[in-house]
Amino acid sequence: MAFVTRQFVRSMSSAAAKKIVIKHVTVLGGGLMGSGIAQVAATSGHTVVLVDQTDEILAKSKKSIEESLKKVAKKKFAEDPKAGASFVEKTLSSITTSTDAASVVHSSDLVVEAIVENLQVKNELFQRLDKFAAEHTIFASNTSSLQITSMANATTRQDRFAGLHFFNPVPMMKLVEIIKTPMTSQKTFESLVDFTKAIGKHPVSCKDTPGFIVNRLLVPYLMEAIRLYERGDASKEDIDIAMKLGAGYPMGPFELLDYVGLDTTKFIIDGWHEMDSKNPLFQPSQSMNKLVAEKKFGKKTGEGYYKYK
Ligand code: 3HC
Repeated sequence: MAFVTRQFVRSMSSAAAKKIVIKHVTVLGGGLMGSGIAQVAATSGHTVVLVDQTDEILAKSKKSIEESLKKVAKKKFAEDPKAGASFVEKTLSSITTSTDAASVVHSSDLVVEAIVENLQVKNELFQRLDKFAAEHTIFASNTSSLQITSMANATTRQDRFAGLHFFNPVPMMKLVEIIKTPMTSQKTFESLVDFTKAIGKHPVSCKDTPGFIVNRLLVPYLMEAIRLYERGDASKEDIDIAMKLGAGYPMGPFELLDYVGLDTTKFIIDGWHEMDSKNPLFQPSQSMNKLVAEKKFGKKTGEGYYKYK
């Protein structure tokens, strides 16, 4: 296996042999996904440090976590609002923030990365943090489409490196895909399975392949919906209604595209198109490219295929 490097053989340390109990978590990236991951980890009794570039970003992240926790509390403690308020407060107090990842990772059992989808930026970050993290610390990426193996190879801990892919909205979606590269140790995998269960999610395992399980099936479906609409075969409203009422999906494809973000879907499909330009499922979409060029990314910018208040 060409990607199993000499560096990897050196990295097979004693730390790889022991399954670890994850208690302290660092989350890199305070966006929608990073905030959600920090929230579910804190809710289940982990201490969390959420890292991003500025205090302003982190203040926004904490605000969005608080809003989401209030929704959870409203349901979970419907009969006891006081207990709900204390749940929100306790969970928030388990999340500290930092703008300096290197100074916090030393005390983490798990570092989950959810920063911008740029392989070079991710590789550089992991390479740098590798020097500061403890030997036993597991590194994981929440990337939706980039190669985990490449990121693992930027570090000296390839056996303690995996993908940990969450779904939006993280507090609601029960699935986590655990991506095993050829170098991920069984103990690392098992530690991540235990962690996933501890945060109340269901783990599934997948090899390091484009889109893993969910996006490999979901993104071509979303792109087919766009093609149906672009050909004028049906309106986007009718396509959405059809998939909700006819297939029982919680959202129609255009609602979901706007929810996930058109920039995110475009990034995924462009990467796959570059990899296999003849595959009819991986063809780019004119309407999506136009909306992204106009910075209409969906719900988060107020407009995508639909307009939002
Ligand atoms: N935090 C906490 N609670 C939340 C929440 C959040 N962020 N978002 C929604 N909720 C709660 C609401 O409070 C509401 O609670 P209630 O039942 O007590 O009223 C409940 O969830 C339902 O929410 P809504 O009534 O607002 O709306 P819906 O019933 O439509 O549910 C949904 C919202 C859970 C988002 C649902 O529409 C859904 O499951 N949609 C599909 C999402 C999906 O497919 N995600 C995967 C995308 S792919 C991905 O993420 C991969 C990436 O790599 C691209």
